[in-house]
Amino acid sequence: MTAPRKTPPRKILVTSALPYANGPIHIGHLVEYIQTDIWARFQRLCGNICHYVCADDAHGTPIMLKAEADGVSAEELIARVGAEHRRDFQNFLIAFDNYYSTHSPENRHFSELIYARLRDRGHIARRTITQLFDPQKRMFLPDRFVRGTCPACNSPEQYGDNCEVCGVTYSPADLIDPVSVLSGARPEQRESEQLFFKLADFREFLANWLAEGRTQREVANKQKELFSEELFEWDISRNEPYWGFEIPGEPGKYFYVWMDAPVGYLASFKNYCEREGVDFDEYLRPDSDCEMVHFIGKDIARFHTLFWPAQLHGGGFRPPSAVWCHGFLSVGGRKMSKRHGTFITAETYFRHLNPEFLRYYFAGKLDDGIDDLDLSFDDFKARVNSDLVGKLVNLASRCASFIEKQFGGKLRGELPAPELFAQFADAGGELARDYENRRYAKAVRAIMALADRANEYIAAERPWELVKSADKKSHAHAVCTQGVNLFRQLVIYLKPVLPATAERAEAFLNLPPQKWEDARAPLLGHAINEYTPLLTRVEDRQIHAMIEESKSGHDESGETSADTSAPADASATIQIADFDKVDLRVAKITAADYVEGADKLLRLDLDLGGEKRTVFAGIKSAYDPKTLPGRHVVVVANLAARKMKFGVSEGMVLAAGPGGEEIFLLSPDEGATAGMRVR
Ligand code: MSP
Ligand code: ZN
Repeated sequence: MTAPRKTPPRKILVTSALPYANGPIHIGHLVEYIQTDIWARFQRLCGNICHYVCADDAHGTPIMLKAEADGVSAEELIARVGAEHRRDFQNFLIAFDNYYSTHSPENRHFSELIYARLRDRGHIARRTITQLFDPQKRMFLPDRFVRGTCPACNSPEQYGDNCEVCGVTYSPADLIDPVSVLSGARPEQRESEQLFFKLADFREFLANWLAEGRTQREVANKQKELFSEELFEWDISRNEPYWGFEIPGEPGKYFYVWMDAPVGYLASFKNYCEREGVDFDEYLRPDSDCEMVHFIGKDIARFHTLFWPAQLHGGGFRPPSAVWCHGFLSVGGRKMSKRHGTFITAETYFRHLNPEFLRYYFAGKLDDGIDDLDLSFDDFKARVNSDLVGKLVNLASRCASFIEKQFGGKLRGELPAPELFAQFADAGGELARDYENRRYAKAVRAIMALADRANEYIAAERPWELVKSADKKSHAHAVCTQGVNLFRQLVIYLKPVLPATAERAEAFLNLPPQKWEDARAPLLGHAINEYTPLLTRVEDRQIHAMIEESKSGHDESGETSADTSAPADASATIQIADFDKVDLRVAKITAADYVEGADKLLRLDLDLGGEKRTVFAGIKSAYDPKTLPGRHVVVVANLAARKMKFGVSEGMVLAAGPGGEEIFLLSPDEGATAGMRVR
C-alpha cells in the first residue's frame, strides 16, 4: 500500500489594493475586498498558508487638502478614516491578517530602501520639468486639480490629464484657459527639478514577466502597447507642500504617493511578520518559492504590472506571482451616483442588509475577467431569496426538525443514497479549481445546481409523509440524515463566500470548523444541535430604506452622511471628561446675512473675544439676519471646521427646538461677554 500523497501547503501572501484614506468604503470597493477575501478563505480552507494583508493609502495631495478642508491635521484625518475602514471591513467579514497604513515607519523604511537601491544602481534620473503652479495656493497642481477647455475638441471643463468628451490625453499645460480647481486662479508655468524612475532599464524584465501569464492577457497586452513606444520615465517626486515621505537627500521633495503606496503591501506584511513571528524574507527574497498575489481594479493595472514589478525587482525583492484585475461595479446599469441613491457606502448597506448577501451576490457575478459588473437590486433580492433562503437554508430546516423531534437529534448510521453523497463529494474537485482560478460565478452556479438536486431528492422521498407510518419511520430518518449531509457539503463549498452562515451551520451540526476535505466523508451516527433559522429573506423595504438613506446623505452642506460619524445614543451617559472636550464659548454676532442659493442657512460672523469666526447656521427659517448683529450666543468653539458648498464653517451655534420657525438661539444672561467659557 502506498501512503496518500501529501502535498506541502502553499505559502501565499495575498493583498487587495489599499483604499485611499480620504473617503468611506463603498460597495464598489467591496467588489475587490470580497473577491480577495473569498480567495484567501478558500486557500486557508484547503490547508494552505495564506496571509492576507492590506492598509490605508494615506498619502498624497487629495488627503492633504481634505484634512485642510476638515480643519484637522492629516494625521487626525487618516486616523479617523482608518478606524472607519477597519470597522467596515470587519462588518463585511473581510478577514485581513493585518490592516495597516502607508503612513508608518515600516513603509518609510521600505520606500527609502527601494529608492536608495534604484538610485545606487543608476535607475533614477534627474530632469527639470515645467508644471502648472497655483500662485494663490502656492503649490504645484496635480493634473486632476487643473480644469480647462480641451485643446482637441474645445469641450469646456475638462481635467488636466484627459478629455472626457473626446478621450484625448494631454498635459495640463495644453489646456485652453486653465484654472486651478483649488483657488480658481490661472496657473502659471514653473520649472522645477524632479526625480524619474527609468522604467526603460527594465524593458526585458517586464516583457518576460508579462509573458509569463502573471496577469490577464488583455491587461498584459495593454501594457505591452507601451513597449513599442519608448518606455517612459516615471516621475516619482513631488514638491512641497505635499503629504508623504520626504525623499532622503532631497530637501523639499517628497515621494509621489504611487511610489510608496504599493510598498505599503510590504510594510503591512512586515508589521504582521514582526508581531506573529513569520519570516518576511522567505516571502520577499528574489528567489522565494512563496507566492505573492495582488488583487486590484483594472484602473490601477499600470501601477501594478509595470511600475511595481520593476520597483520590486530593482529594489532587490521578488516580483509578484500574479496581479489579478477585476472590473468596475455599476448599480442599476449606471455609475454609482449620490443623487440616485446608488452611491452606497459599506456603512449604509450594513445598517439595512446582511453583508453575506452582498458577498453571495458578488460571488455570483465575479469571474476571472475584467468586465464590469452590475448590481441590480431586483436581481439581488431574487438571487438571495431563491438561492440562499429557498434552496440552501430550506434544505436544512426541512430535515432538521424531524431529526430533532422524531429521532432524538441523532443522525443515522448509514446513508440511503450514498451515490448522491459521492456525486456531491466528487464535485469538490472542479469547484476547487473554480475558486482557485477566480471563477466564482461558475462555482456558485454549480453549487446551486447541487442544492437543486438535494431538494429534489427530499421532495421525491417526502419524509413528512414517511414519518406518519411506523414501518417507514426509519427510512424517513435515513432520508433526513442524507439531507443534512448534503446540506453540510453545500455549506463547506460555500464557506469562503458565507463564513458567518457556515459558522452557524457548524454550530447547528455540532462540528468543529470544517475544512474543504471534510466534504468527502459523511457525517453518520452523529448528534446534532437544535436548528435555528440561518438566514432570513431580503425585503423590498430594506432595499428602499438603504437607497433613501444614500440619497439623503447629501444635504445642503455638500457633505455626505458618511463624512460624519453616527450620532451618539442621546440617552447614553458620558463622563465629565467627555463633556470637557467640548469647548463652549460666548460669542457676539457681528454680522449676519443670507447665503445665496442656500435654503436653510444664514452666514454669521462671530467675535469670540478677539477671535473672528464665520459659521453657517441652519436658522434661516426662524431668524431675520437684520435682527441678529450685537446679540450674544453660545458656540461650540472647537468643532472641526467643515467645508460646505458655500464656504468653511468654523464652529456651531447652539439653538433649541424642533426646527422650522421653532428655532431658539441660546443666549447668556446680561453681562456675559464674548470669549467667556461656558460650563
Ligand atoms: N489607493 C489606490 C490603490 C493603491 S494600491 C497600492 C486606490 N484606491 S481606491 O480607494 O481608489 O480604490 C481601491 C480599490 O477599489 C482599487 O483597486 C479600485 O479599482 C477599487 N474600486 C474602486 N471603485 C470601484 C468600483 N466602483 N468597482 C470595483 N472596484 C472599485 O486606487
Ligand atoms: Zn476633447
